[in-house]
Amino acid sequence: MNNEADAGVTRRHQDNRAAWDEAAHCYEQEVEEDIAFLRAGGKNLMAPELSYLQDLGAWCRRAIHLQCAGGRDTLSLWNQGAAEVVGVDISEKMIAAARRKSEALNAPARWYCCDVLDTPHELNGTADLVYTGRGALCWLMDIEAWARVVARLLKPEGRLYVFEGHPLDSVWDMNATELKFEAEPPYGDYFSQSVGTNQGWPETYVPSEAVPPKEQQAKKHERQWTLGQILNGLAASGLRLERFEEHPDLYWHQFPNLPQDTIKRLPHTFSLLMRKE
Ligand SMILES: C[S@@+](CC[C@H](N)C(=O)[O-])C[C@H]1O[C@@H](n2cnc3c(N)ncnc32)[C@H](O)[C@@H]1O
Repeated sequence: MNNEADAGVTRRHQDNRAAWDEAAHCYEQEVEEDIAFLRAGGKNLMAPELSYLQDLGAWCRRAIHLQCAGGRDTLSLWNQGAAEVVGVDISEKMIAAARRKSEALNAPARWYCCDVLDTPHELNGTADLVYTGRGALCWLMDIEAWARVVARLLKPEGRLYVFEGHPLDSVWDMNATELKFEAEPPYGDYFSQSVGTNQGWPETYVPSEAVPPKEQQAKKHERQWTLGQILNGLAASGLRLERFEEHPDLYWHQFPNLPQDTIKRLPHTFSLLMRKE
């Protein structure tokens, strides 16, 4: 990528940082609840994730969670058996929330506040597991650069596990009562390479009193990556595929008006397990 394109990626990621600092409000509200949940041994991992991460205690000394948000999932990896966890996120407020949890739990955790593309090189070659997903990749403007970061963090034979929203889901109108293409570009087109830019968060996610007035809200940028782009980016960085699976499971309440019978006939998430050569 040339410098101009690099600058565009960085600028959009910085816009997203400001937007996620706004959204961090709802994560901050859950810190005490998360501490209690994690202290009781809780794991905020879904069934497909648990099936891929079931024996962490046997092989995972260090798990690095990219785009770790408030650290609940990162610390769930510790409860699942990882000896040490590292979380990376661009939002200072998210990282502060994560740190409060690990301090309260005295957990072996380290947190880095930075763009995932700038994950410090001191972590290179130290991860038995790199974990990410559940709404992570759509915020990144350069999937090949991300794949190179994953590869440099892993130890030889280290594993990448991604549990992410299926890119096909960006095609469907989320509010429709039957399957219908989303009309608003860049959604509604699996192959769209455009970036969608907007402001603000749904009221159901972040209450309006927690964010600045509309005209002051940070711009945020999202885009979709096809399965091919994700897989090819990682393969080009030296990772080999071990297993790829599509799941009907949703990781958030994405289609509130669609009948269950329709939902379960389509993939909504995927698991991707790769190893560093
Ligand atoms: C939907 S959340 C991640 C999902 C996580 N499993 C959760 O819900 O707790 C997306 C996260 O990505 C982070 N993020 C977005 N762009 C980033 C970037 N370029 N580098 C690092 N973190 C980023 C945001 O700050 C946010 O915490």
